Amino acid sequence: PAPGWEQEADVVVVGSGVAGLTTALRLSGNDPVLRVLVVTKDLLSAGSTRWAQGGIAAALGPGDTPQEHLADTLVAGAGLCDEDAVRVLVTEGPEAVRELIAQGAHFDESGGELSLTREGGHHRDRIAHAGGDATGAEIQRALVAAVRAAPGIEVVEHAIAVDLALDGAGAVAGLTVHVLGEGQRDGVGLLRTRAVVLASGGLGQVFSQTTNPSVATGDGVALALRAGAVVRDLEFVQFHPTVMWLGEDAEGQQPLVSEAVRGEGAVLRDWSGAAFMRGEHELADLAPRDVVAKAITRRMHAEDRPHVWLDATRIGGARTDEEAEAFWARRFPTILSVCRAHGVDPAREPIPVAPACHYASGGVATDLDGRSSVPGLLATGEVACSGVHGANRLASNSLLEGLVFARRIADALLRDGLPAPTVPALDARPEGLVGQDVVPLLQAETTARVGVLRSAHGLAQARERLAALAATPGSTPGAAAWQATNLLTVASALAAAAQAREETRGSHWRDDFPDRDDVGWQGHLDVVLTAGAPATLWSPNHAEEV
Ligand code: SIN
Repeated sequence: PAPGWEQEADVVVVGSGVAGLTTALRLSGNDPVLRVLVVTKDLLSAGSTRWAQGGIAAALGPGDTPQEHLADTLVAGAGLCDEDAVRVLVTEGPEAVRELIAQGAHFDESGGELSLTREGGHHRDRIAHAGGDATGAEIQRALVAAVRAAPGIEVVEHAIAVDLALDGAGAVAGLTVHVLGEGQRDGVGLLRTRAVVLASGGLGQVFSQTTNPSVATGDGVALALRAGAVVRDLEFVQFHPTVMWLGEDAEGQQPLVSEAVRGEGAVLRDWSGAAFMRGEHELADLAPRDVVAKAITRRMHAEDRPHVWLDATRIGGARTDEEAEAFWARRFPTILSVCRAHGVDPAREPIPVAPACHYASGGVATDLDGRSSVPGLLATGEVACSGVHGANRLASNSLLEGLVFARRIADALLRDGLPAPTVPALDARPEGLVGQDVVPLLQAETTARVGVLRSAHGLAQARERLAALAATPGSTPGAAAWQATNLLTVASALAAAAQAREETRGSHWRDDFPDRDDVGWQGHLDVVLTAGAPATLWSPNHAEEV
């Protein structure tokens, strides 16, 4: 259908997690006459940010330095971080966290100082947390309250971003959205705008089991691909090592058991009770996430079991079950109640855990001020690939990335001025829509063959089957169809990138190419859509298809 309504805004922000809300607040706070519109697919408070447990990493502790945070981030990123982007992250990070505190977010303290903990890959205690293990929820609460109080920011909830509307020169002129049940703005409408900031989060729902909420359907990456934007590092999807195992048939969002639990002394054990991480890495249970996820997967295969165990019965130096229980209740109240809801008492028995999809390290390729390859389209947070994560994100760097780069986007837009308004040349919307029935089929395909462990044969099979699913469209436009189509577009692009990269690096693990290859593969793969199908190009010159 043609857009049934139109609205104008200076900047449209898509998404309402830490990245989107920080962008909106900084724009509006520094230019009160700017019309900033936040569109979000669910409620303003939904999205991945509020699920973040462990915390936000920044060199805030005594003796810690941005340089050390940079070094840990580069090691985790396995040779593919953009060092300039990481330097921006770690040097601007501490001030961004302090500003968040000034905006009303309450972090845990001890003795009047921020209380900092450690997670995988960090050589220092540098993770600030809130409510014990409810850091994201507290950040989201504070930012939502600030946005609600900001007169220059308008919010439209239940609004799915459908597609960018480009002008004749290929620059952003607007965004089509599908709004569900919002009075006059009901149905498909066109937002005319001078800039679109994608802050739409991740793509975890591409897999059957994920820590991501149901809204994480890769909409931003799919929309950017359709607009011709370059998407980078898509093969580096991070599997969180310790996701509570709820049984063979469990699907959708699964409960995370934060790395901070290992930071406080919990130990991974196999079915014989052996603490197997000790022989794997100098940091043992606190090795970078990909190392731990791979070691767990190997152990699961060797023992032919669907999970391993996380033993937190002596957490925080507890000598008895009662001491462990008191520590759990104080430090990890959210995880404790989730474990108990699933019949596990973590102070007295180990928690069954297995890796599950957690975070997309890649996304829409951006520069240090969030600009994508499409003029007027910016991206920040999980949807973006700013270069800070490389092949594997360091724990608790994601909230920080959202904060730091959102601030930079706002500052750059205010400093450089917004592009002049233009007129959409075409009313682009996805063609060949697939229906909701395709979703479990594509999730099964990615989970079986594009997950933790990949091979040429499996990836070729997955690509073929995903292409077959795309070849049988016929769904009518609507919320379910937009999301299903986005998931299929992202799954296909991800499988193409994973097939192209013939090495093992960071979170990309190839059975048939088990080693890291710094001679042939020390670089990035970009994905673009050509005639609706993903093509993988060697970045940055795009001279050849890979
Ligand atoms: C966790 O708390 O383990 C998750 C932190 C992260 O993904 O950065």
